[in-house]
Amino acid sequence: MKLVHPAISVWHLLLLIPAVTTAVTFRLEAENAAGPHTINWRSAASNVRTVFVISASDRLSFPFCLYRQVTADVTVTYSHDGGNSDVRVKVDNTQNLTFSTGAAYGGGANWNVFQSASFSGVTLNRGIQKLALTFQGLDTYGIEIDYVDVSVDDDFVTDDVFRCKLLLGAEPSFEGVGGGVSAGHLEQHSYHTPCPEEDNVHLAVYHDTVSQYTLRATNPLYRSMYDNKTHDTSTCPNLDATYWRFDDVDADTALNNVIHSSAVAQNNATLTGYLVQNDVTYNVKYVVTFDLKGFKKGFIDADIHSILKATFNQGASSSTNIKVTYEGRSGQPVLLDEFVVSGSTVTKSWDIPDMTWSEDHLNFLNIYASDEDTMVNDFQLIRGYMGPDQPVDIFNSDEVRLQGFVSDFWWRRPVGESLTVVVRGQQFKNLSRVALYVQTPWSGVNSYQQLLVLYQDGNVRLLPVPYSSPTPGYWIPFGTSVICGKSNPADLRPAAPIKTLTFVPETLEMTLDYYDGSTSKITLAYTVSETALKVTDMTFSPSTQGRPFASFRSMFVRFGSADSDSVQSELEGPEHVLGAWGNLGGREFLVFRAVESHHLTHSPDIRLTIEA
Ligand SMILES: *[C@@H]1O[C@H](CO)[C@@H](O)[C@H](O)[C@H]1NC(C)=O
Ligand SMILES: *[C@@H]1O[C@H](CO)[C@@H](O)[C@H](O)[C@H]1NC(C)=O
Ligand SMILES: *[C@@H]1O[C@H](CO)[C@@H](O)[C@H](O)[C@H]1NC(C)=O
Ligand SMILES: *[C@@H]1O[C@H](CO)[C@@H](O)[C@H](O)[C@H]1NC(C)=O
Repeated sequence: MKLVHPAISVWHLLLLIPAVTTAVTFRLEAENAAGPHTINWRSAASNVRTVFVISASDRLSFPFCLYRQVTADVTVTYSHDGGNSDVRVKVDNTQNLTFSTGAAYGGGANWNVFQSASFSGVTLNRGIQKLALTFQGLDTYGIEIDYVDVSVDDDFVTDDVFRCKLLLGAEPSFEGVGGGVSAGHLEQHSYHTPCPEEDNVHLAVYHDTVSQYTLRATNPLYRSMYDNKTHDTSTCPNLDATYWRFDDVDADTALNNVIHSSAVAQNNATLTGYLVQNDVTYNVKYVVTFDLKGFKKGFIDADIHSILKATFNQGASSSTNIKVTYEGRSGQPVLLDEFVVSGSTVTKSWDIPDMTWSEDHLNFLNIYASDEDTMVNDFQLIRGYMGPDQPVDIFNSDEVRLQGFVSDFWWRRPVGESLTVVVRGQQFKNLSRVALYVQTPWSGVNSYQQLLVLYQDGNVRLLPVPYSSPTPGYWIPFGTSVICGKSNPADLRPAAPIKTLTFVPETLEMTLDYYDGSTSKITLAYTVSETALKVTDMTFSPSTQGRPFASFRSMFVRFGSADSDSVQSELEGPEHVLGAWGNLGGREFLVFRAVESHHLTHSPDIRLTIEA
């Protein structure tokens, strides 16, 4: 589940993927190589140390890890004082590079003079590799090795990956992908984000004639005893729910159209004071105008309920009349409250319902006061809190449970959408998602694990059944998800909104009717190793012509903090999920982690296979 409030989704921070690959250099210091070696101190050496090699049986080896095949430049830096030596650089027995030092007699002075031998365009394979220096033709005085620089042509590989601090997974296989159907393709729509709780990976799946496909969720290909499920918002944009706030508002500072500076002035909020003419009760009014972003921009601020707060300090009079009105979506003034302040300080708070504010035009909040000495403090509008989703039991048997959820606020409610579930003729309305649970007896007698969550916006999350565990209630988190149904990849928040889901408990079949008129049937099946969702009987509304029939949604910030890092098909890849590859052809696409992640460590890899 993504924590990040849709309202602050970082569309405005959207950082597009650069098409140019940059090289990153990793230095392998000889003195850090494993094994007993003679280490010498040299003032001109990197890290002021070298390894002295005198015997042909000596060997310096450096393990490294790569999540995919790359091209690299390899540079060996050394010193010697004497005759020629031949050095061989072997990389995992596939590369066999040699260089000769030549003779350089300096009476000992040359040991502190460093030279380099470089090899460019060296292919380094994916996996756990070893770079080894061997010395067959050594001069009698030997040679000192300072370091090896490996300059890798890749935008994403980090020290944690290259130095194998994060474990690599096994290579995925693509066996038995049928050739009876033409290939489709993935299209890159991802962007960079600093926030691990945002779905920045967006890969749209296209096929001209698809009528059936299967999604499969499997455990990660790496073996890790980490089980990190903590949400991490430490690098996410400010989650502040304050739309605007003004302090110390009074006639002296706000009157005569002085635009008051505010404590929090987001959303183009300004406050202006006016003298009120021809009103028997009120002498002054303070007006806040502000904009809010809503559904059309991929935000919820203009749509979700909000809370208005203000503290009134009484002016010179013994009592002050206050009136609060607003003008929002309806464009008409609405009276919110009218009251008398006759103590010293009164703090008020008002709940403003969903769909009050406009995303199309300016909103107004007006405070009228009978006494111009009245001071308004802590005058603020904040986003309403999202209450917990209310579960609805739709179907229960000893084997399977289907639960629906009514959300306090659902992001597609502004356009009147919600999910209706039908089971054996009974209807359940106003849902934002359903979760399907199956019995997992190894977790306890009455233990049910969710294997499928389907959101009204078409998002599908799948899980393999959980491992056996001594920890009661052990569970696997969701990670990569898939929008099932045609969506517009250009939308800020792409969706394939579903209107009705008809569930057949006996077969775990669900018939989906989409808001655009499209239909499909999904059927869940599971084994201990994978959970599969078969999507069949697909028909599409003509209005969705040319759009992707499914889209992967996932997250990559950096290796180690990612729900996926790679994508591969039976024809192409692996490529990085944020890579500038444009298109990737195939019938089967796997969005997976090649490298261990400490974000939702055991969330599954997701495979999509086009079958007809
Ligand atoms: C590497 O090259 C040397 C000669 O340059 C040769 O003797 C050796 O067999 C080669 N090793 C491999 C693994 O190809
Ligand atoms: C788990 O993730 C959190 C958030 O990213 C991080 O602070 C913590 O160090 C991680 N724990 C482990 C054991 O990796
Ligand atoms: C900001 O608010 C002012 C009124 O205070 C309005 O005239 C202007 O159009 C608003 N700007 C935007 C970008 O909406
Ligand atoms: C749906 O549920 C929400 C939250 O409980 C509620 O505010 C809304 O009025 C409901 N809508 C309908 C059509 O029942």
